[in-house]
Amino acid sequence: MQHKITSFQQYVETYKKSVENPEQFWNEIAESFQWKQKWNQTLEWNFEEPTIKWFLNGKLNITENCLDRHLAENGNKPAIIWESNDSNEPNRTITYFELHAEVCRFANVLQNNGIEKGDRVCLYMPMVPELAIAVLACARIGAVHSVVFAGFSAQSLSDRINDSACKLLVTADGLYRGNKTVGLKEICDEALQSTPSIQKVIVYKRTNQDIKMQLGRDVWWHSEMHKAAAHFDAVEMDSEDPLFILYTSGSTGKPKGVLHTCAGYMVYTYYTFLNVFQYEADDIFWCTADIGWITGHSYIVYGPLLNGATTVMFEGIPTYPDAGRFWSTIDKLQVTKFYTAPTAIRSLMASGLDFVKPYKLDSLKVIGSVGEPINEEAWFWYHDHIGKEKCPVVDTWWQTETGGIMISPIAFVTPTKPTFATLPLPGVQPILVDNEGNELEGNNVEGLLCMKFPWPGIIRTTYGDHERCKQAYFSTFKNLYFTGDGCKRDEDGYYRIIGRVDDVMNVSGHRLGTAEVENAINEHPNVIESAVVGYPHDIKGQGIYAFVIVDKESIEKGIIDTDAALPNSVENDDSLRLLNITSFENEVKNIVSKIISPIAKPDKIQIVSGLPKTRSGKIMRRILRKIAEGDVSNLGDITTLLDPSVVDEIIKGSK
Ligand code: WTA
Repeated sequence: MQHKITSFQQYVETYKKSVENPEQFWNEIAESFQWKQKWNQTLEWNFEEPTIKWFLNGKLNITENCLDRHLAENGNKPAIIWESNDSNEPNRTITYFELHAEVCRFANVLQNNGIEKGDRVCLYMPMVPELAIAVLACARIGAVHSVVFAGFSAQSLSDRINDSACKLLVTADGLYRGNKTVGLKEICDEALQSTPSIQKVIVYKRTNQDIKMQLGRDVWWHSEMHKAAAHFDAVEMDSEDPLFILYTSGSTGKPKGVLHTCAGYMVYTYYTFLNVFQYEADDIFWCTADIGWITGHSYIVYGPLLNGATTVMFEGIPTYPDAGRFWSTIDKLQVTKFYTAPTAIRSLMASGLDFVKPYKLDSLKVIGSVGEPINEEAWFWYHDHIGKEKCPVVDTWWQTETGGIMISPIAFVTPTKPTFATLPLPGVQPILVDNEGNELEGNNVEGLLCMKFPWPGIIRTTYGDHERCKQAYFSTFKNLYFTGDGCKRDEDGYYRIIGRVDDVMNVSGHRLGTAEVENAINEHPNVIESAVVGYPHDIKGQGIYAFVIVDKESIEKGIIDTDAALPNSVENDDSLRLLNITSFENEVKNIVSKIISPIAKPDKIQIVSGLPKTRSGKIMRRILRKIAEGDVSNLGDITTLLDPSVVDEIIKGSK
């Protein structure tokens, strides 16, 4: 732990050093790992192409650093503590020895099922330790894992499998989520109808429900593991060999496969975990994210295990069996560092303090937040009632593309300020620019957040489409990585993230592209066109507001009534009219659930006869956003619209 920063003075000095000589700074951190062969060049980069390589020609396997190197001293230490969806089911504790053996076993299983270095393996799993085991086994064999969040639909799953031509899928019969059971294998079977690259499916038994196993393709996790040896020599990987792909939404088209590589990601997640959370050997660290998101990759699996920490994996949801589940689990497991999302905090805050009061929460030392801006009310509630005013709140800003935390307080070191992600971590060089890309210097400025120098965890490419990576992140401003976020730097030089400035919504901390949701809505047979925008939502942070144009025929037949905002305007029976609209809305929601996921369902749907478009046909979302926010006092210049009158109509019908 010689890389731990323990005072603000030390942070200032370390930061200075990291900017003046980034290569030397990261070299010193990288030295602490187990390499099969040391790197001979620290960094090669060019943001125009972009080409970014760290620790060139180094050879390693990340799992030796997550597992093997801890065995001699800490083999019996718990690596994973698993908390079931069912609060009465006993915890599972897996030591480093056991995790090492299971990972080796599953690496053998992958090999026995035809997987080799470089193959892509899709993981669509419940939050059980076997998901972490599968992730690490892929890394051990050198296969590229692509974890797909198990809340995604069959179509989203098959799209992701096809985009990276995954050869094998690991899944489970089903999963538990609160009081629901979801038939995962059934969803997979639907997805697998259109995934020619998949040769084998390994099925973990979790719910014991009846499923179909396809002979020759589907095999059971437990019977494969039974046959496999608990030893597997970690495959030698180059620093820049791909480690994983994780799909994330952008402002255009389908989600893109963000690609991270072995050494840089390893060094970065290790370092950020150690410092932000001020890791100590006896910590019980709990990150409540799902491993289907980057937060779970970096701070349930890799960051903690690289540090030899004990990491908690939680299968359930914050409100089951009641809204005290997080707090009772913290007491039960004596969690010391807790990391969750503002949306969870807001929903638990809304459930009231009666769910918090029965618990001591006195094991907690640091509490963290990630995924979206945390509003002041939620920040104070978290700080006062969960952290009991003694735990620093680390509001950590970062992205799937950054691999690890970028701007954040270092617990006990950086003075916090509610709603501020505060200061860049060492090695992170943020810059704020205006719309033309001019740097906004000094303090008390607000602009677009970019990075001017690479850090080891930065995205390398978008899988199979390097041009897309360039367009999305490196072309908006010359020689800068563009984050897509608006940001303010205050009088103390502290950073406060305002939110996305592009067409990406952040719903309960989940990134969703407007185009993605629109494409799904447009699949409804009566929908001609749609436009969706995010609007402020008390719990979710942002809700989804959809404006849809439906075909004339359905209006004429009275299937859909566009005059919902004007009662008595139709002769139909009012209740019938409402029913029709409601059923149409439900159909739209169902389609979105089916095509993407229930998390992408629009909260509000408004039928409109036209959308505000420029003469060149571009939808002016700025106007729709204002209407969705309920703030129509200043819509800005609408004279450039093709048909300004639609704006009035939309305002009248708005919800
Ligand atoms: C937002 C999640 C404000 C931001 C790790 C970013 C935040 C997007 C914060 C990335 C924060 C993340 N404060 N906004 N502390 N953390 N965001 O890829 O808009 O799922 O661009 O990564 O979430 O979301 P992603």
